[in-house]
Amino acid sequence: MSAVLAEASAAHAALTNRNKVALVLLGTGVVGGAFLKLLCTPVAGRLHLVGAANSRKQQTDAVQLAARDLRDRLKREGAARDDTALFSALDTHDAALKVIVDATASAELASRHADWLSRGYHVVTANKSLAGGQLSGWRALQAARAAGGRYGDAATVGAGLPVLSTLRRLCDCGDSLLTLEGVFSGSLSYLFNHYDGSRPFSVLLREARKLGYTEPDPRADLSGEDVARKLLILARNAGFALGSDEVVVESLVPETLRDVSTETFLERLEELDEPLAALHEAARARGQVLRFLARINQRGRARVGLTEVPPTHPAARLYGTDNQFALTTTRYHTQPLVIQGPGAGPEVTAQALLGDILSLG
Ligand SMILES: NC(=O)c1ccc[n+]([C@@H]2O[C@H](COP(=O)([O-])OP(=O)(O)OC[C@H]3O[C@@H](n4cnc5c(N)ncnc54)[C@H](OP(=O)(O)O)[C@@H]3O)[C@@H](O)[C@H]2O)c1
Repeated sequence: MSAVLAEASAAHAALTNRNKVALVLLGTGVVGGAFLKLLCTPVAGRLHLVGAANSRKQQTDAVQLAARDLRDRLKREGAARDDTALFSALDTHDAALKVIVDATASAELASRHADWLSRGYHVVTANKSLAGGQLSGWRALQAARAAGGRYGDAATVGAGLPVLSTLRRLCDCGDSLLTLEGVFSGSLSYLFNHYDGSRPFSVLLREARKLGYTEPDPRADLSGEDVARKLLILARNAGFALGSDEVVVESLVPETLRDVSTETFLERLEELDEPLAALHEAARARGQVLRFLARINQRGRARVGLTEVPPTHPAARLYGTDNQFALTTTRYHTQPLVIQGPGAGPEVTAQALLGDILSLG
């Protein structure tokens, strides 16, 4: 090969490597499984999966990783979980961009996001536990970001609806969030869009669970904790240094059902019926409807819970599992900027992860 050709070929290789992305996927559940499917589509051509793991097993073998049924295989076979082996697969790959994708809900993994960023990996996540957890964790994340780490978090709120990106863009332009209000949970949206008192709440809840709209243990939704984490993520991105104990969370789960097993909870769902029917009736008598709202005001007062709203309220006009985020800012002052749409679902959430990876470079 002539010197000119060798030089051109080296330049081409360097360019190709610069565009290549090596990935490790943590979590091959509902969202991770949908993400694996997206990796097989043409838009993911420059993404190279070098490792994948569930909570017990992992795989770094190229042939195994390319298998269409990787998710199922990992349930049966693979090496025991070991982050060192997984990340060394990233280190030895020639791609310039090395990304850890967290599609779990593990608080333990989330607590390591900032460390991964400081070690030069990019992190793309659907896991809310760090940014929506303790304030100290959020601060560590901000420090790692300030040092150059790229953190893709579109999937953590609204399953990829363009909420966080919009909010950050407004703040970058010197706009400030005055109030934020909305429905941040697909399952709670579904439940209160359909609850009109004609059928017991427990019947509706069982139906929603069967349709896959709730977590296997619906208390994860009904407790309001997941909504509170999303509110914290949004509030912190808007500049409110809010501690996790500063959000008032009004759980829909009666105290007597908080510590029982999932099985017992599911057997005793009828205990939710009477209190909710009373609230519904009281709201109806005042010409209002019930919605599970998250809200933060200008002074940083944050609350998550059931709220009576008039039928003309934007949250009273939602469909299915829609999420809604109404942002009132210094410049969107007369009318709020409203972002609304499907705020749950594996495909859109996985797409949010993919979008964050592709935008890394
Ligand atoms: N589902 C949605 O529509 C949606 C929408 C937006 C955001 N999210 C968020 O996305 C994340 C994943 O949700 P999902 O519905 O996919 O949950 P999921 O079906 O329960 O899957 C979770 C996955 O994480 C794995 N995992 C747990 N700990 C792990 C560890 N230490 N190392 C590696 N893998 C580990 C689990 O492994 P095993 O299989 O071995 O248990 C499982 O594969 C959650 O944070 C959720 O809040 C979900």
